[in-house]
Amino acid sequence: MSTLSKINSLSKLSDIKDQELSVFGYFEDIGLSKIGEKINNQLNNVILKASFKGKLNSSLLIYLGDNNSKILLIGLGNSKKYTIDKLRGCAGTVIKEIKKNEISNFIIELIGGYKLNVNKYELTKSLVEGLILGSYDFNYYKSKNKKEFTIKSSILDGDNTGINDGVIISNATCYSRDLANHPSNILTPSKIADESIKIAKYSKIKCKIFDREEFTNIGMGSFSAVAKGAYEPPKFIILEYNGADNKNERPYAFLGKGITFDTGGISIKPSPKMDEMKFDMCGAATVLGIMKAVKELKPKLNLICAIAATENMPGGNAIKPGDIVKAYNGKTIEILNTDAEGRMVLADALSYINDIYKPQFMIDFATLTGAVIYSLGHIATGIMGNNKTLINNILKAGEITSERCWELPLWDEYCEQVKSKIADVKNLGAPGQAGTIAGAAFLKEFVNDTPWVHFDIAGTAWQTKDQPYIPSGPSGVGVRLSLELLNIISSS
Ligand code: BES
Ligand code: ZN
Ligand code: ZN
Repeated sequence: MSTLSKINSLSKLSDIKDQELSVFGYFEDIGLSKIGEKINNQLNNVILKASFKGKLNSSLLIYLGDNNSKILLIGLGNSKKYTIDKLRGCAGTVIKEIKKNEISNFIIELIGGYKLNVNKYELTKSLVEGLILGSYDFNYYKSKNKKEFTIKSSILDGDNTGINDGVIISNATCYSRDLANHPSNILTPSKIADESIKIAKYSKIKCKIFDREEFTNIGMGSFSAVAKGAYEPPKFIILEYNGADNKNERPYAFLGKGITFDTGGISIKPSPKMDEMKFDMCGAATVLGIMKAVKELKPKLNLICAIAATENMPGGNAIKPGDIVKAYNGKTIEILNTDAEGRMVLADALSYINDIYKPQFMIDFATLTGAVIYSLGHIATGIMGNNKTLINNILKAGEITSERCWELPLWDEYCEQVKSKIADVKNLGAPGQAGTIAGAAFLKEFVNDTPWVHFDIAGTAWQTKDQPYIPSGPSGVGVRLSLELLNIISSS
């Protein structure tokens, strides 16, 4: 939940007078912006006395003598090293200070924006993202001391479309974080289906839900195998958004791994940190976040979101290592480890969506391998795919949104490693080697020639340390990037 979900635009400097708090940026090497200097010419004396230097993400709250009004200075660091992502981060720091001091309305300038070679729309959008994403906390299950207050905020001289888009995209990201934060006893596959139905309460979106029997009968033997041990009913969910002028335009497809809890199954996981496996549905949360934003942004294109949702449980009914099953596209899979379940549910989701919708591209989001954390830590998402243009556009969208991605190779030699001795493929690669690539090599067997990119978000879907606009916990990664990607594609 974000504390801040609405933002206004104010353009006149005189509007500042009605605000409880005004926020200005302060560079180490330049000091205040021109607007900041105009506000209060005594400010520089106060800053000097407080020995405030403008270090990145430092702040100084100043009480003005006259009435109840205050000024908050946010340190922007060195102006030559300032970036659009630092702007987001500084906005995140600002909103935390505002919450801490229980301030109920404020106005903020486009902090340091004049030093960046970025248009006003992007500056405003990024500022809004920093404010809303930084205001996020999840107190849904706290029965006491829920501090609930609303903050009214305005941006001085912001761009109205930037505010509008920024608010929609950030709220969708917070929605994705909320879904991931709910534990597996609450956020079951049925609950994910209910959320999808809610999103589809709009004329341009349709929702289709297949239950266990239905998706098993159409041949999804791989997904159905993973779901065999599940107590909670599994669901295969499709959302169709029709926004293109031409109804028959081929859609773009986004797919999400929706394992509501991953015990590992019979190849059971060790106990430490197993609670984190409630986040194994973060891919599903990402695609629902994308659809929620699309519903409000109304882009002129067609889109499909698909989620394979189940828990991965051990039990008398569960699949066992060595079992062989048949996927939707007819390929047989030797299951050597029941903990490599994400690729199995996606195998059917990808081949079904490809077969039925003939999409222009398919992108899947999945917390697929622990190995990606060894390669890239919690900084970048590992991506792999079969189409250079799509990969380059994704890398670009990752830079713009600072949801950075890094491509790992998907060479034939790696693809050989998922071939099985007695079935077509196996759900493991070479022991102890290139585990993340093996996951993608397996998925590649189910996409044919459709441009496809796999996002292994196991390292980026949640963070363990607080960051200025990503509090520890689920990050909502992939929502902002995907919307930026759709922008890039629509304008090229
Ligand atoms: N959900 C896990 C991957 C994971 C691990 C995500 C840690 C986030 C943090 C996935 O289903 C899994 O268990 N993968 C196995 C694959 C292995 C059996 C080839 C893994 O990473 O160990
Ligand atoms: Zn697993
Ligand atoms: Zn998993």
